[in-house]
Amino acid sequence: MKTLIQGGTVVTAADTYRADVLVVDDTVAAVGKDLTAGGAKRVDASRKYVIPGGIDVHTHMELPFGGTFASDDFYTGTVAAAFGGTTSIVDFAVQGMGEPLEKARDAWMAKARGKAVIDYGLHMIVRDVSDEVLREMGSMVRDGVSSFKLFMAYPGVFMLDDASIFKALVRSAEVGGLICMHAENGGVIDVLVKRALAQKKTGPKWHALTRPPEAEAEATGRAFRLAEMAGGVPLYIVHLSASQALEQVRLFRDRGLPAYAETCPQYLFLSYDSYEEPGFEGAKYVMSPPLRPKWHQDELWKGLAKNDLQVVSTDHCPFCMKEKELGKGDFSKIPNGAPGVETRMVLLYDGGVVGGRITLNRWIELCCTTPAKIMGMFPKKGTIAVGSDADIVVWDPRATQTLSAKTHHMRVDYSPYEGRKVKGRAVTVLSRGEVIVEKDKFVGKKGRGKFIKRGSPILQT
Ligand code: URP
Ligand code: ZN
Ligand code: ZN
Repeated sequence: MKTLIQGGTVVTAADTYRADVLVVDDTVAAVGKDLTAGGAKRVDASRKYVIPGGIDVHTHMELPFGGTFASDDFYTGTVAAAFGGTTSIVDFAVQGMGEPLEKARDAWMAKARGKAVIDYGLHMIVRDVSDEVLREMGSMVRDGVSSFKLFMAYPGVFMLDDASIFKALVRSAEVGGLICMHAENGGVIDVLVKRALAQKKTGPKWHALTRPPEAEAEATGRAFRLAEMAGGVPLYIVHLSASQALEQVRLFRDRGLPAYAETCPQYLFLSYDSYEEPGFEGAKYVMSPPLRPKWHQDELWKGLAKNDLQVVSTDHCPFCMKEKELGKGDFSKIPNGAPGVETRMVLLYDGGVVGGRITLNRWIELCCTTPAKIMGMFPKKGTIAVGSDADIVVWDPRATQTLSAKTHHMRVDYSPYEGRKVKGRAVTVLSRGEVIVEKDKFVGKKGRGKFIKRGSPILQT
């Protein structure tokens, strides 16, 4: 099967140039001027960008949380991702307390199999660091689950002590894995939450007010110190939201340590003000870490431009309002998370590239190439080059759209960006050579997505 993508401008993390792209079966076979291919399906890309498919390395399809489940499963969530120009995700399997990692891996594979329409990898959330689990980290990496998320927050549910974190960091270096850290000081937050509830401060905004930026900064700094004591082990901070936490990343990077971090669109485009919306509306934005005062946004954009932040992921974890209402009268019971897998590419294009904060190539680097490198998928994923998987998006830079729950494909009844007008749109999406989105329609097959057996991280400073 051949497909010729003609007349577009190819954009990678490094280059922008006019070229055709020839896809044979599931792979990029040639990139060049005026390519010909008899019998090939033709995709017209004139006046469009031809970009690598987006890679979202932080999603939670069907995550069990706070007595319910994230509302997107691997079908609805990956269809939505495809519409937004994302062709690979890395989702988080959750270890059951005292259970082998293998069991969680198999459970998440079963959730994805038969449903995912784009390719997917898995991280492993480690909840207890026993000797068996430490041993198992080796076989996980060999089987392609090469990153492990640890939590410094949510005492009694996910939170690990420093000794466990330290052991896992040492082991990750031995086995060629990567630790991804949820960095918030869970002990302090717990005290603040209990105090607020005792004072009858129960509305959604107290979620944010009891999780201050300092709690994120402290945990971020402590995590990097632990990684340093473990022998300069690479460490990746997930969903970084606050300027003070970014300062910690910068501090350790400036000292030459392998310190990495991602942020998410919600922290670049939304702010604490959303929690002040009337009634229970603020619950839409209850996520951890929470949204910060607006001035943090500029600092995060600077961090992205200067490479102190290397990745933009989404932390896609949607709950419908009915589920959010579990926390009516007690903000600590509102399920944490918000939708985003569909809107990441366009928000970063519109707010970043059109907004003049990052270059076109940096957009691709942040949303496609570096995520693929850090998460061990490059160069199969994350670029357009001969031999790479043909995960390709034809992007119309002139199209405009209005983000809304009425039109999005995520299975959730609100959009955090309701009514926002943005420039840019994924018009044709190919996953391993197959057109799966065309003319505003999903034309792929349910379950066609494949597990991505990831390797060790490729880390550059
Ligand atoms: O609020 C969030 N972030 N929900 C998803 C779980 C996590 O910590 O990533
Ligand atoms: Zn987290
Ligand atoms: Zn998350």
